[in-house]
Amino acid sequence: MEVRFPEDFLFGTATSSHQIEGGNIYNEWYMWERKGKLPECGLACNSWNLYDEDIKLMAKLGYNAYRFSIEWSRVQPKQGAWNDKAIKKYLKVVKALKEYSIEPIVTLHHFTNPAWFFLRKGWEKTENVVFFTEYVEKIVEELVEHVKIWVTINEPSVYAYMGWVSGEYPPFKNNVLLYFRVLRNVLRAHAQAYKIIKRFDINSWIGIAKHFPVFQPAKKYILDQIIVDTADYNFNCIIVEALDKGILPGLFIHRKYKELKGTYDYWGVNYYTRQVLKFNPTRIFTLFAQPLKRVSEEVTDMGWDVYPEGLYNVLMRLKRSGKPIIITENGIATRDDRQRICFIVRHLYQVWRAMNKGVDVRGYMYWSFIDNYEWVEGFKPRFGLVEVDYESFERKPRESALFYGKLAREKKIDEKYLNACLSKAKKLKMLGSSTCDPSS
Ligand code: FCB
Repeated sequence: MEVRFPEDFLFGTATSSHQIEGGNIYNEWYMWERKGKLPECGLACNSWNLYDEDIKLMAKLGYNAYRFSIEWSRVQPKQGAWNDKAIKKYLKVVKALKEYSIEPIVTLHHFTNPAWFFLRKGWEKTENVVFFTEYVEKIVEELVEHVKIWVTINEPSVYAYMGWVSGEYPPFKNNVLLYFRVLRNVLRAHAQAYKIIKRFDINSWIGIAKHFPVFQPAKKYILDQIIVDTADYNFNCIIVEALDKGILPGLFIHRKYKELKGTYDYWGVNYYTRQVLKFNPTRIFTLFAQPLKRVSEEVTDMGWDVYPEGLYNVLMRLKRSGKPIIITENGIATRDDRQRICFIVRHLYQVWRAMNKGVDVRGYMYWSFIDNYEWVEGFKPRFGLVEVDYESFERKPRESALFYGKLAREKKIDEKYLNACLSKAKKLKMLGSSTCDPSS
């Protein structure tokens, strides 16, 4: 069997500013890290200084795309004050990528905010959306000449969930109503950003990077199924409906916001795992859902199930939107680099299967190019194709980095690896479920 991808397929990697750059003191994560509430990020991978070296390495390895994010708090450390040096640095980054024929995919918001914005209650207030759009205006004006593909917001549902439901990320709240309010504001911001970017360049490609977990019930039990449908609706479908139909999500009331309708040129899909849910009457904050841990034979160092078929399900679900798709994140935290290779092979195989069924996938960004600061987990998880020594900041490409480079250059999965990785997977149990489709 030959698993081949189109010649213009983007094979790249993804990172985000706070997780790799290091040395930034202007966002709310830094503020809480100093208070001891979050692991310290410090110099992270020192990529703020080593970006040139990183880009050269990507080129040498053979990757043809790179998704990274702009750190809003660097660009605007104080309200009303722009840091032109930082803006110019990002300009250098995109120019360097272009020079090496690497397609830049620029994310405008990846979880972090300037501390001043956070202290004004950030995304909880609709009147604060304008601060984000001012920043978008500024950065797009500077970069638009060199950037075609944009991600406005990374994982809106995860962002709102982690900050306002599970309370693991700043501002550490447990309030479902605020979850919806934040989501609405973030979606309003996305719609505005879409308009701004299109004003600068009508041909630009704009999307959201949406984390699409596959939800499954722990047992064939009506209450488990109800919470699975509820979770799928509140986490996945509401974003699909928002962008497709222009409906702002709420717990009970769904309002129309026509400026949102159709504000995407592609679906950005972040896919990692499935969530197996069990009904638990005490879990009020999570709408009675309790995720089960370690439900299959193969888990990552994050304790996440390896479930490649879920990616196929997600892609088939999105087919009906009629829009192209970029896998904006997919990856594994593991110390076993062979496991990483098989993870990539098995997920790309599912991408290929979906493409054969007519799904228009244009690219795949492995998370992550290098090991990095994994939010509340700190530096322990190793997601990188390239290993980072956090003392010397030396980069060492792992075997998987070379393997992925060969794949990227040849645009096909080596048959030897394909057979080995797929036969291993046959032993694993596979399930599937979905409750919404775009445009249905
Ligand atoms: C995603 C985030 C990304 C990274 C990976 C592992 O949800 O977008 O920053 O942490 O998970």
